[in-house]
Amino acid sequence: MHSTEGSAVYNFQYANPTRICFGAGQIASLSELIPSGSRLLVLYGGGSIKQNGVYEQLTEALAGREWLEFPGIGANPRYDQLMEAVALVKRERIDFLLAVGGGSVVDGTKFVAAAACFEGEDPWDILLDKAPIKAALPLGCVLTLPATGSESNPAAVVSRGEAKLSFYNPLVLPQFAVLDPTTTYSLPVRQVGNGVVDAFVHIIEQYLTFPVGGEVQDRLAEGLLQVLVDNGPKALSDPTDYQVRANLMWAASLALNGLIGRGVPQDWATHAIGHQLTALHGLDHAQSLAVVLPSLLRAQAAQKQEKLAQFAERVWHSSREDKALRIEEAIIRTEQFFQQMGVGTRLADYGLDERCIPAICSNLKRFGLTSLGEQQDIDPDKVARILSHAR
Ligand code: NZQ
Ligand code: ZN
Repeated sequence: MHSTEGSAVYNFQYANPTRICFGAGQIASLSELIPSGSRLLVLYGGGSIKQNGVYEQLTEALAGREWLEFPGIGANPRYDQLMEAVALVKRERIDFLLAVGGGSVVDGTKFVAAAACFEGEDPWDILLDKAPIKAALPLGCVLTLPATGSESNPAAVVSRGEAKLSFYNPLVLPQFAVLDPTTTYSLPVRQVGNGVVDAFVHIIEQYLTFPVGGEVQDRLAEGLLQVLVDNGPKALSDPTDYQVRANLMWAASLALNGLIGRGVPQDWATHAIGHQLTALHGLDHAQSLAVVLPSLLRAQAAQKQEKLAQFAERVWHSSREDKALRIEEAIIRTEQFFQQMGVGTRLADYGLDERCIPAICSNLKRFGLTSLGEQQDIDPDKVARILSHAR
């Protein structure tokens, strides 16, 4: 069979050039990773790195160099603030960016890298119109929150008012990512839960679609899901267990570094809908996913039934004979897992009810997100039904 037909793995190319420096003490390797003589800007968040020793290790690793810093990048990084960093980059002729923190800092830094070299009129067009990026400053990162996979992927998500938009470009792939699991010991319970749920949903978006015979992709996805299910709760009960943190950190990275999604259909509807919940109501990214995913899986159970049944058997070890019951068991177990990680799965958990639904649908229309999912069959009416069942 020709490989582009529906029931076989799609043709693909795969390259991931980000150098991963994994393990305790790896922040020290920054001295070799960042080119000597760089005009360096270090970007970070609201201060966690000053409390957990990461800033100190960074200062030690950068001893003898001159560098500037841009602190205060918050969750769901904001365009206006990032443009202040762009101005600083231009003023100081910065030529290397180092992001230190969670996905928001890494994403924000990617946008700064692209916006600083943008030749068009308004860098917001990178997000709004997918304006072409011809160059970007080189960047690297020290990741302190396993969740997004941003440390070794070409994506970034930036917010402005009620818009939360993403862009993708290989030019903003980090050159290196330092992944030291001990930096995650200080994560608040809420962020541990968020990280595990986000990584889980990233895998689901690339796995729970329709079968094309991608056994490698399926087995990798199922293995990573199992690691999250096994280790997530342990990170809550024993926050300084190195093995647990190491397994979660590597699993979250592999969940969205491009590998498991190559050659197979991808969904991403949960993310598209979830982003509107964050943009309009401020839910954490993973909270929004935990609300949308179970309800979406129920709404799409017919289209996804083969993979849902496989997910039930292989990840949740369901032995029910009846396929529909097996699928429902898998969705319930997924919901319970999110709740066990401390992440609410209903709109009501965040003080919302069905009154929020029309504005979410209008936002999806405003940004052209009207035929979502691997079959492009999720329109705003279906989104309204999905959210209404997630009350
Ligand atoms: O700002 P600080 O003080 O550093 O505190 C952060 C922040 O408050 C804290 N934190 C991070 N590491 C810590 C820590 N606190 C204690 N100890 C540590 N080691 O955690 C809070 C949340 O951080 P944030 O970076 O916002 O979280 P996350 O990594 O979950 O990133 C979420 C953002 O990434 C986007 C999301 O939409 C959201 O904007 N995503 C990016 C993706 C990508 N680039 O591929 C894909 C994802 O689907 C997602 O959309
Ligand atoms: Zn996500």
